[in-house]
Amino acid sequence: MVFMKPSMPAPPLFLFKRLRLIRFLSAIPLLVALLVSAGPIAAQQTEERRGSGALLNQAVDQADGKSVRLGELTTGNSLTVLLFLGADCPLSQKAVTESVIDLAKSGSPAKVGLLGLLVARDDALDIQRLKDEFKAAFPLLLDRNNQLAGILGVTVVPTAVVVDQQGKVLYQGRINDRVEQLGKRSVVRRNDMREAISDAAKGLPVRVPKTPSVGCPVELRKAVPDSTGKAEYYRDIQPILYKHCAVCHQEKGVAPFSLANYQDATLWVEMGIDLIERKIMPPGQAESDFALSDAPSVPSPQELRLLRQWLEEGMPKGAVPANTRALPPTDPESADLGKPDLVLKPDGPMTLAASGDDMYRYMVYKLNLNRELKVRAMRFIPGNQKVVHHTLIWFADSATQARIIADKGLNAYGLLPDDSGPGYGQSAMLGKYHKIDTNKSRLPFEQIGGYAPGHSVWKTPAGCALSIPEKTDLVVQMHYHRSGKVETDFSSIELYLAKGDINPAEDFRTTNINDDKFLLMPPNQRRRTNTAWPVEDDCRIVGISPHGHLLTVSQTVTLERPDGTRKVLLNVPRFDFNWQRMYTFREPIPVAKGSKVHVSSLMDNTSGNPANPFKPPKAIFMGEATTDEMVFPFVALTIPKNSRWNLQQGFFSGYRTGIIATTLKQQFGLDDQPNQASPAAISGDKQP
Ligand code: HEC
Repeated sequence: MVFMKPSMPAPPLFLFKRLRLIRFLSAIPLLVALLVSAGPIAAQQTEERRGSGALLNQAVDQADGKSVRLGELTTGNSLTVLLFLGADCPLSQKAVTESVIDLAKSGSPAKVGLLGLLVARDDALDIQRLKDEFKAAFPLLLDRNNQLAGILGVTVVPTAVVVDQQGKVLYQGRINDRVEQLGKRSVVRRNDMREAISDAAKGLPVRVPKTPSVGCPVELRKAVPDSTGKAEYYRDIQPILYKHCAVCHQEKGVAPFSLANYQDATLWVEMGIDLIERKIMPPGQAESDFALSDAPSVPSPQELRLLRQWLEEGMPKGAVPANTRALPPTDPESADLGKPDLVLKPDGPMTLAASGDDMYRYMVYKLNLNRELKVRAMRFIPGNQKVVHHTLIWFADSATQARIIADKGLNAYGLLPDDSGPGYGQSAMLGKYHKIDTNKSRLPFEQIGGYAPGHSVWKTPAGCALSIPEKTDLVVQMHYHRSGKVETDFSSIELYLAKGDINPAEDFRTTNINDDKFLLMPPNQRRRTNTAWPVEDDCRIVGISPHGHLLTVSQTVTLERPDGTRKVLLNVPRFDFNWQRMYTFREPIPVAKGSKVHVSSLMDNTSGNPANPFKPPKAIFMGEATTDEMVFPFVALTIPKNSRWNLQQGFFSGYRTGIIATTLKQQFGLDDQPNQASPAAISGDKQP
């Protein structure tokens, strides 16, 4: 039954959001019953039952509680997809929409049916919720006691099982490979379920009959609250989770589920341990030889040991403290900001289609003032945390914006036919629109900050203020995820102006380091890049935002002083394109003219990289699209007011490297290949 050894290498993951106490408690006797009944069903017996008519004889429950034989629901279909779902599992919710779209796209002449099967802990209310919220327009049934899941060896939801008229399993696994490993998302490279249906409908053997599913476990690890152990919830575990996780993982936090009470902790801790070990949670981990003011706090090896011990000991609750501990604030960085001087919004909300690849879009927050603004802090407030993943914030003058908008090819980038809203298509490499101007040290556009979950405020250190030039707007590069249903977002930006206390001899700037030696990454290689950036004037480094794309697995920025000594400014050991942000130093770091800043990225262009946008891997060139690659960290710094250091160079260098890479690509005949994985190729052509 559900306790059989998983037949696929799927991690036991507790991805169930808002699992209500009552439902959890009611699951315990059920799990015990299953434990008892699991014995007689041997794997061998399961094999016999697989593929025989026995599957179609199994009973499933309808929303009204009536039992029905599976075979009655599959008659008339030449193929049927049994889609195993968990109502509270975010990945599962998305699958409701994706599977329908995928079936429609399979273009199969055979009649293909779709049945949703909710796992044992779900109930009739969940059926209603999936129908209403996610517009599940296909029959939803309850797999009472996980009977069918047990027979088929389904251990993770969502899982799709394609069966023929006799109930023989032709395909079992994921819908597509967007999430190949929990915590790592990429673009869709293979629509596995669709391919299988298309083979089967043609009467051909299914070429890939089995793929691993990633998502939430069908079974839950059993908690024994009254047991005893060396690690107890209230004494040992709650402090760890409050310290490192609850700032995001609480009701109304940015994370999709809470870790802030006993019940939720028991559901998620096993998966949490896995993600802590893989340095994926807390997200955005970074190391430095200097103190960072806003790096995520990471559990120590001792704390990790306690979490493991607690899990093994049955997750005992321990004595409930007399006075309950206060939850950490969800937005601690904004606590001492005071009142904003300006609150900006785009022209209107953005509406996102339910499913598809991520969307990147420039949203304009109009300022266009006749004077320069001196800003001490900026706060980005996501309108809809389910879809806003991260953002990069720029200022840009109207001429630059007009050029981007006039560039038609960019306008459609990332937008699906059912998306609508203001803004324009993404192009990261704004250098394309400008000639180098050695008389100016400042670009007509600069990145001035960014937002990532848990990091919404960007502050300048004491004594300096960020200046937003006159006649510019804020332009936010939004990275949107899709949730499985149509969503709208209307995010805002608060600006807090500096009041007097600024060093008049300094200018605050952001700039880029481009590795102009990085032109392409050959397939099936894993290797390091290296570049050195000359520091042309005395400055103070305020912050760094590492930047690369899907092949980049780590990025290190090192300072070499004129005397040859080296210190790590920033190392992001698990760089993730989905978690980019600016890291600020507690004190700006004084750096003398003649120093060098070295940047090194470790890139993985093998199929072992779960984020690799191409399977099998292919040569990836330097470029601005997500599926291209670059070494391009942002640096925030202060320079002397009269400095002649031209900080525009990084952008132009990036632009030039891009042109050389494109030429190379064309010479190798690798340009404009039809490519399923490219967001540009997938997106529709609708203009906003
Ligand atoms: C800065 C905010 C933040 C902190 C701190 C944080 N998380 Fe998360 N966590 C998230 C978000 C957001 C997600 C949703 C996944 C995504 O958006 O990619 C998530 C997802 C998860 C998941 C599900 C994995 C997935 O891919 O959906 C687990 C498990 C998890 N977190 C555990 C933890 C644990 C344990 C800690 C503390 C050690 C922690 N998190 C700290 C923001 C945070």
